[in-house]
Amino acid sequence: MKVASRNLSLTKAGSESDSAIYLGAIMAPYPALSDDALCIDAESWLKLRPDAAAIPVVDSENSPIGIISRTHFQIKYLQLYGRDIYRHRSVSVMMDHTPFTADYFDSVAQVSTLFERNRNHLIENGILVTQEGLYCGFVSGLALLKSALAEVKLTKKQLEQAQQALIQREKMAYLGSLVAGVAHEVNTPIGIAVTAASTLQDEAAKLVDLLRAGQLKRSLLTHFSELVSDSTALIHANLSRANEIIRNFKSIAVDQTSNELRTFELGEYCQQLLDSMKPTLCHYPQPVRLNSPHQPIVVTTSPSAISQIITNLVLNALEHAFDSESGSEQSRHGSVEITLFETKGSIHLICQDSGKGIEEAIIGNIFDPFFTTLRHRGGSGLGLHIVYNLVTDVLHGEIAVESNSALGGTRFTIIFPI
Ligand SMILES: Nc1ncnc2c1ncn2[C@@H]1O[C@H](COP(=O)(O)OP(=O)(O)OP(=O)(O)O)[C@@H](O)[C@H]1O
Ligand SMILES: [Mg+2]
Repeated sequence: MKVASRNLSLTKAGSESDSAIYLGAIMAPYPALSDDALCIDAESWLKLRPDAAAIPVVDSENSPIGIISRTHFQIKYLQLYGRDIYRHRSVSVMMDHTPFTADYFDSVAQVSTLFERNRNHLIENGILVTQEGLYCGFVSGLALLKSALAEVKLTKKQLEQAQQALIQREKMAYLGSLVAGVAHEVNTPIGIAVTAASTLQDEAAKLVDLLRAGQLKRSLLTHFSELVSDSTALIHANLSRANEIIRNFKSIAVDQTSNELRTFELGEYCQQLLDSMKPTLCHYPQPVRLNSPHQPIVVTTSPSAISQIITNLVLNALEHAFDSESGSEQSRHGSVEITLFETKGSIHLICQDSGKGIEEAIIGNIFDPFFTTLRHRGGSGLGLHIVYNLVTDVLHGEIAVESNSALGGTRFTIIFPI
């Protein structure tokens, strides 16, 4: 029996990605039968290799010229008188003369696609792998199928990994946006506390000077004690607010569920909040009013979420709804109103301004992170995104926005369960 074989030193080249399985990696390095072999040689060849699905056949140049399928051979050769008829005849009588050939470095994916198209032919005949047209090994249809399947699994795993990485990236981006939001929120109370502390420091220094000079009068002392009391109250309120924001940030960032809940009266809480915002609100000509019912609205929820939501909505109205520079009628007589009421186990919190409204073209984007029309003035576009998350995730409620000429401004309606 003549057997052709060839040792090739193969190095992977080409543009296939490293993760793709290529034929060389799943090839069985069976020796091929030469074209002058007889059927009896083919019988011995198959006996020696019980796993082989087919026998590759090559010419004297080692070029693949055919393939003998085991099933086809067995049916013809092992039938009655088959062995007697064929044993001394050339293997070419059993051969498929159009063997499928592929390159050592062709990817399983590439070949599987061809496989799909000519399924029957290829499954029966297996694949001869050639490089530069020469035989170097054999790949059965089954081996190809198996590795195509493995590759699909690998791709699925890679997809899952990529998805995880994406989720992680989104989480990090969300965390980043929260940090920016906190910096933004904390800025005002800290600024107010710093101003109040430095005023106190200046006045105390003046007091000491007067005391040393023996010019301290009772009226000055009274004035100073009032200042101390007002300033420390202001410092305390604003540092507590900053502290609350940071605590809220931590609870949202670390664990949404640990957002501290408290039972409190909503109207009173909102009034305290607006009072604590007075140092900021006084910079705007438009008044901010609270309409709350006489009956108390007792809620058990996260107070810091409520204060963050109201702060953002009120400041947005003051910053975006009125053209402060134009001094228009609408701007001068504008106002912002917070309305609270309770219906059938739900709280309605409405923030309405009488400003210029929000254009229809952008109203659908205002809750998107980083969407702002005031980037040139330092807007981060995170305010309403944070509001949206707080309403849905912390209050378990819903938020809607309306803005049209009939309304004469913008109205945010938040409804959440008690
Ligand atoms: N009451 C309002 N009237 C008119 N436009 C508004 C009003 N509230 C929000 N907007 C629009 O929605 C956009 C998004 O608001 P958002 O609070 O998310 O960001 P921002 O206020 O621009 O920036 P920041 O992150 O500093 O709050 C604003 O840039 C503005 O165009
Ligand atoms: Mg804002």
